[in-house]
Amino acid sequence: MELKIMICLLFISLCLIHPSASAPALNYADALEKSILFFEGQRSGKLPANQRLTWRGHSGLSDGSTYHVDLVGGYYDAGDNVKFGLPMAFTTTMLAWSVIEFGNRMAGQINYARDAVRWGTDYLLKAATAAPDTLYVQVADPNQDHHCWERPEDMDTPRNVYKVTSQNPGSDVASETAAALAAASIVFRRTDPAYSAKLLQTAMKVFDFANRYRGKYSDSLSSVVCPFYCSYSGYDDELLWGASWLYLASRNASYLSYVSSNGYTLGAGDDTYSFSWDDKRPGTKVLLSQGFLRNKIQQLELYKVHSDNYICSLVPGANGFQAQYTPGGLLYKEGDSNLQYVTSATFLLLTYATYLNSDGGSVSCGASKITAPQLISLAKKQVDYILGQNPAKMSYMVGFGERYPLHVHHRGSSIPSVHAHPSHVSCNDGFQYLYSGSPNPNVLVGAVLGGPDGNDGFSDDRNNYQQTEPATYINAPMVGALAFFSGTQKMT
Ligand SMILES: *[C@@H]1O[C@H](CO)[C@@H](O)[C@H](O)[C@H]1NC(C)=O
Repeated sequence: MELKIMICLLFISLCLIHPSASAPALNYADALEKSILFFEGQRSGKLPANQRLTWRGHSGLSDGSTYHVDLVGGYYDAGDNVKFGLPMAFTTTMLAWSVIEFGNRMAGQINYARDAVRWGTDYLLKAATAAPDTLYVQVADPNQDHHCWERPEDMDTPRNVYKVTSQNPGSDVASETAAALAAASIVFRRTDPAYSAKLLQTAMKVFDFANRYRGKYSDSLSSVVCPFYCSYSGYDDELLWGASWLYLASRNASYLSYVSSNGYTLGAGDDTYSFSWDDKRPGTKVLLSQGFLRNKIQQLELYKVHSDNYICSLVPGANGFQAQYTPGGLLYKEGDSNLQYVTSATFLLLTYATYLNSDGGSVSCGASKITAPQLISLAKKQVDYILGQNPAKMSYMVGFGERYPLHVHHRGSSIPSVHAHPSHVSCNDGFQYLYSGSPNPNVLVGAVLGGPDGNDGFSDDRNNYQQTEPATYINAPMVGALAFFSGTQKMT
């Protein structure tokens, strides 16, 4: 009995996870390429000549103009045409983190990945530098946008602009923006030092603004950010996350001292188990654990301890395990857009495995140890499930594999392209495409969708936004995870 348990602990993936022996090998390099391509489908603004998703056109070219501010560019968050600052900044941070950790496994995709980061940071720089002590955090009122089903190229809904200021602060969105700019400054350090310096300098200013004027952006902007991207977890988690990224990007001791003196007040000791656009705590712990694991900074040891708690919560059979998995083996948090939690957890598993490997360390779950290869194998199970190795035999990445969802909840993808159908499709006329049973005319290649329910069930229905809507923050951590597996493909 004892021996069996020990074998299980050594090879936990063999005991708890049953990869189907007949499953064909997945082409992770193909999935990586597609996961990055998806971001071109979400672009707002003037598209460059090298745009590869050619069914899209220019859009939102006068965003900000009635407010005398240039807010052209950035990403639409999901299947609508709103530019939400909080998830856009989180997406950009996660794309940058993907490049920082796993860019060396991206081969020919690295430049596309950097372009995806830059499409986010070019916009965030505009939003952060337009006026002093001001951060523009959103373009468009989602309530009005959602009354229409229109291509971004046709938008005639109001493009209202929203901001946070010293009077109406938003430490959550501001500190996430600082995190994105700081993380991106690491990405461009060697390839574009001038841009990198500008990113870091702006990140420092935005963080200072976030820290000095404290408040939740949803207190002043509730009618347009809730319930969409309401700051449920508050702003403490973003302040610690922002300071951590600033420390890593600048190596300036004042940020390490900020982290050390404020860590506990800002939630360093809380164990939460979902990493998302709202709650940054699990990500911050893993991020800071590298300071202990790689650089032996003793005051960061607590982040290794809490990273362990987070990781133990995910590993079936581990002491402290408390996650839910579907019968098919998918991590399951909730019915709305569940895959966002899967891709973010998968990214943390792989990143933590990488940090542990640099130290030869392992995860302590009570008295037992979990090793880096076990984390990698759990992450691989999640990635493989998303790519089609699941009971429904459905790939949840659009355009990947033989079967994938055809009725994606996405305005631009579901209405004929402006190139195929140049005449205007108005607000209400677009709804025929939402309710149509036909497949989307434009394939949103690489989009990872909300995904199946707790019993591996999925309904490929365009009106089922909980399952068929993509989001930039579902894909961003997936880029890193796919880079990890595409880089190790020959070795496994
Ligand atoms: C370190 O960061 C602090 C706080 O932002 C700043 O005042 C100081 O100038 C920075 N030091 C260096 C060497 O950049």
